[in-house]
Order: sequence, then C-alpha cells, then structure tokens
Amino acid sequence: MNILAFESSCDETSAAVVAVENESFTVKSNIIASQIETHRLYGGVVPEIASRAHTEAISRITYEALEVAGVTLSQIDLIAVTANPGLIGALLVGVNFAKGLAAANGIPLVAVDHIKGHVSSSYLSGEENAPGLPFLAFAASGGHTAIYKVESHTDFKLIGTTRDDAIGESFDKIGRIIGIPYPAGRGFDALAREGFIKATGDEVNFYAKYKKSEAYKDKEMALPSPALSGETLDFSFSGLKTAAINLLHRYEQAGREIDRALFAARYTYEAVEAVAKKIKMALDEHPGCDVVVAGGVAANSHLRARLAEIARVAGVRLLLPPVSLCGDNAAMIAAQGYFEFMAGNLSDSSLNASALDSIEHI
Ligand code: KG4
Ligand code: ZN
Repeated sequence: MNILAFESSCDETSAAVVAVENESFTVKSNIIASQIETHRLYGGVVPEIASRAHTEAISRITYEALEVAGVTLSQIDLIAVTANPGLIGALLVGVNFAKGLAAANGIPLVAVDHIKGHVSSSYLSGEENAPGLPFLAFAASGGHTAIYKVESHTDFKLIGTTRDDAIGESFDKIGRIIGIPYPAGRGFDALAREGFIKATGDEVNFYAKYKKSEAYKDKEMALPSPALSGETLDFSFSGLKTAAINLLHRYEQAGREIDRALFAARYTYEAVEAVAKKIKMALDEHPGCDVVVAGGVAANSHLRARLAEIARVAGVRLLLPPVSLCGDNAAMIAAQGYFEFMAGNLSDSSLNASALDSIEHI
C-alpha cells in the first residue's frame, strides 16, 4: 500500500510517500521544508510564524512528494497526519490539509502521535533494523525526553520522562547563550567533541577518558546531573540548565572568559551520562529488550556512542535511525500511520489537533 503522510508539528513542513509491503517500508519521497532560517532570526520558534509558513508550504511540498515518488493521488491508499503533540496552530495546518485531501478523494485517514512517529523511524531503514516487540524507546527532541516501553506498535507506556525542560531545548537554550545559532544541538555536539579532545588529548577514545581528565576535576566547571535520584526513570533538565547559566554568569562577572569547548563537553557529559544511567536502569527492569533511540537529539554523536556501549554490555540491540531521519519528517509519520491503520485506529473529518501528549506516564 502507498501512504501519503504529513508532519507540521513544529518548524518543518514535511510530506512523504512511503510504500509498505509485508511490513517492509520503502521511502519513495520525504520532502522537508525547513523554517529554521526564519526562526533563527528570533533565536527560537515563533508559533504564529510557523503556522503561516506551514500554510504557505504544504500544497507545494505535497505535489513535490507525489512527483518525486512517481505516484498520483489515485494511487494513495492511506493518508497519515501528525495530530499531537506540538504547536497547536502548526498542527492544525497539517490536520486540516490531510482531512480535506482524504475527504475529497475518499482516502482513509489516520492520526499519528508525533513521538510514536519518531520511534517508528527505526522501521524505515530496513527490516534488520526493526526492533523486536516489546522494546524500550528513548525519544529525545526539542520538546520531549521520554523513555517508553513499547508493548505493541501502537501501545506505548511512558516509564520515564523529564519533569521540566526537554534535553533538546536545554541544548538550544544553553547553546544560544554561548553563541551557537538556533537550533544549537548540532553545533553543541561538535563543540563538545572539541572540548573532549582538548581535555583528554585523544581524538578517538575521548569520551571514555574524559572522567579522568584534569578538565573534569575542575570544580569551577562542575554541573549537576539531570538524572533524578532514586528508582525513578525521570529527569530534570532545568536544574542542569540553571546551574549552567549561573556558571556562565560567574565567569562573566569575574571578567573571565570561559573555554566554550570545555564547557560544552562538561554539559554534554552530564546530559549524556544521565540518559545512559536511566536507560541502564530501564534495561535492568526490562531485560532483553531492544532499545530504539529517536528524535532530533538521537543525532547526538556522544549519546549514540554511549548508548551503543550500554546496549553492548546488556547484550541487546541498539537501533538508531540514520541521522537524516532523526529530525522531524513525514516518512516516520507514514510508518506509524501504517501501524495505526493495521490496529483499526481510523479517523474521520471530526479529527482535531491537540498540543498535548497522548501517552500517559505510568
Ligand atoms: O525531533 P526534532 O527535530 O524536533 C522536535 O520534535 O523538537 O528535534 C529538534 C531538537 C533540537 O533541540 C535540536 O537542537 C536537537 O534536536 N538536535 C541535537 C542534535 N541535532 C539536533 N541535539 C544534540 N545533538 C545533535 N547532534
Ligand atoms: Zn520531533
């Protein structure tokens, strides 16, 4: 079957055509119109501007997605659209467009949860990369930091989450203060790498050696762990963020210039170690489960390497979508849309968007 999917929850408008045969997915097109350059002027996403830019882009990218895939609307068997969570005005653009197209052409419609979509991006890079059920998923983006136990393709249980800021948001905010353009995640990743190498003098095993380095012993650069203590799998990234802002202020007030690379390394280390700790705890509770890591922050090279190590030690598979599918895209919405369709979760023209999560914390 051919699925036409839409994603417009934040600052990328995306349309994709994905063919599915015997649970094997082929991405025929995955067009992404990014608004990042527009929002960069303001240092973050401006919701009203995002909605307008989605409205302007959606028809054009839909034509493009069909054209690149070499199919017409008459060959589309299912329409899938992100309905939550996200910016409400932005979501509504995709939802209304998808509803109109589905009704006008008599094509079935399914609503997709954005985060489930991120997790399903792991099905798009070949069957050998598909996780076995049940599995654990870590979704990390600009708005989410969550660990799920995925019982079936549509049944996700939230077992750990951030109690305040998301990991990606914290990289973006701190990155902005140290002069990395929005969205800062990628630049932060590269700067941290520079810092780890500087701290250890090792261009390959820098992460493993970092904790023993002089730079790590520097108390002035100390930052708290965002992993909450005790048995919980929850995080608090606002504590780390506030401590980092205070640290940067202290340097500024003393007229001292901070080593940005060493600072980025320290911040990244605390963030990544916290995730590593909680994923390890989740694996202890749910032994043998494969681990899927998804969302924009899954592109982080230090996080990828550290979680690969955890999975290797636990004897489970770590499934990481290619970096090109970690950010927001409609192909991942098509993949989850297929599972929703197979589970009978069809929508109709009464479908509404919601800014909220649909997966409850247990
Ligand atoms: O999933 P996504 O594209 O959009 C949301 O649903 O939020 O995630 C965007 C987030 C941003 O916070 C961005 O800075 C972060 O992913 N990000 C990264 C990296 N690449 C993107 N964070 C850390 N390291 C990266 N390499
Ligand atoms: Zn996302």
